[in-house]
Amino acid sequence: MTTTQLEKPVAARAVKTVKNPRVKSGFHPRTCAIAGVGAYVPERVLTNADLEKMVETSNEWITTRTGIEERRIAREGEFTSDMAAKAALRAMKAANVKPEEIELIIVATITPDMLFPSPACLVQQKIGARRVPAFDIEAACSGFIFGLEIGQQFIASHTYNTVLVIGAEKLSSIIDWKDRNTCVLFGDGAGAAILQSRSDTHGLLTACMGADGSKAELLSMPAGGSRQPATAESVSKGLHYLRMDGKETFKSAVNAMYSAAQEALRRCEIDISQIKLIIPHQANRRIIDAVGERLGATQDQLFVNLHKYGNTSAASVAIALDEAVQSGRIQRGDLILLVVFGAGLTWGAAVIQW
Ligand code: ACO
Repeated sequence: MTTTQLEKPVAARAVKTVKNPRVKSGFHPRTCAIAGVGAYVPERVLTNADLEKMVETSNEWITTRTGIEERRIAREGEFTSDMAAKAALRAMKAANVKPEEIELIIVATITPDMLFPSPACLVQQKIGARRVPAFDIEAACSGFIFGLEIGQQFIASHTYNTVLVIGAEKLSSIIDWKDRNTCVLFGDGAGAAILQSRSDTHGLLTACMGADGSKAELLSMPAGGSRQPATAESVSKGLHYLRMDGKETFKSAVNAMYSAAQEALRRCEIDISQIKLIIPHQANRRIIDAVGERLGATQDQLFVNLHKYGNTSAASVAIALDEAVQSGRIQRGDLILLVVFGAGLTWGAAVIQW
């Protein structure tokens, strides 16, 4: 008897006797809205003038090449999960959601408090949530959009009613503060969103995501994982710091962000003029302007806050989204476009009706 012959009757029996718990929902997907957002950035400000005292650089070089003027740095004893929890509590307040209502916690980060357990589990405890599933995703600067799309699947499938998605980073912990090529670019912070189905909006209309592992070497932290566990040698060679080929990353970023945004607009059958606000990953002002120009966007459509925070990786668009909402630049019903790019390489674009 072949395996196929054996499997057929078993499969038929299983279908007949097992009750599919999802059937009660009728499999009708439902919309997934962002019910509330929140953000947290540490108090300590590190300015370009401060950096001039640390490495051979200048305020002029940093502002003209990147647009960054200052960034926030977590204090000693303040970790990724602490910032994530603070952002989460603010998002919960905005959405009027109590800790016991949260059914799933997703944290996007490349700077977990430790390799394991995950910051998501630590956040669960810090915000007083129930013993609900909590896990991290690692898609670098693209992590928040990846997290939204994952969370959306659980809402659309009626698996959960309330999902918490967070992007949080303590990048200052993986920066070589002697390397001027990278230390001027990054900062710390966290942003969070509560996902729920709402009848008054389409919410997350689409999310186009992609990755290209053949370009993994462009942006990485070589040591500290299973390939090169931390040793005295890896530490002395600085292999536990973020490394980046800035020029190549720049080119890939513009191309990938433009293509992802175009695809997201195409799927929704809308053009850029219908987008109220574009919230791009805040890595470099020149990248944002190049993507905006290729998309045919006006300056008014582009949300920029990188002068205050630098690149906060997975937290970047989450913090920007919160600021855009707080400052009244997004109203219920508006269409917004998030577009991101990061190590992996990874990228993504999402169209959301607010
Ligand atoms: N101050 C002064 N000079 C500097 C500094 C600095 N902080 N950093 C580099 N330089 C020098 C370089 O050494 C080089 O000098 P040289 O010509 O004598 O060799 C010169 O400035 C020019 O360097 P470039 O690399 O050509 O500068 P560029 O215009 O490409 O800008 C930058 C560099 C800002 C890093 C840019 O390439 C960039 O933003 N890249 C993309 C980064 C990014 O988007 N990352 C996103 C993902 S992050 C994540 O996923 C965690």
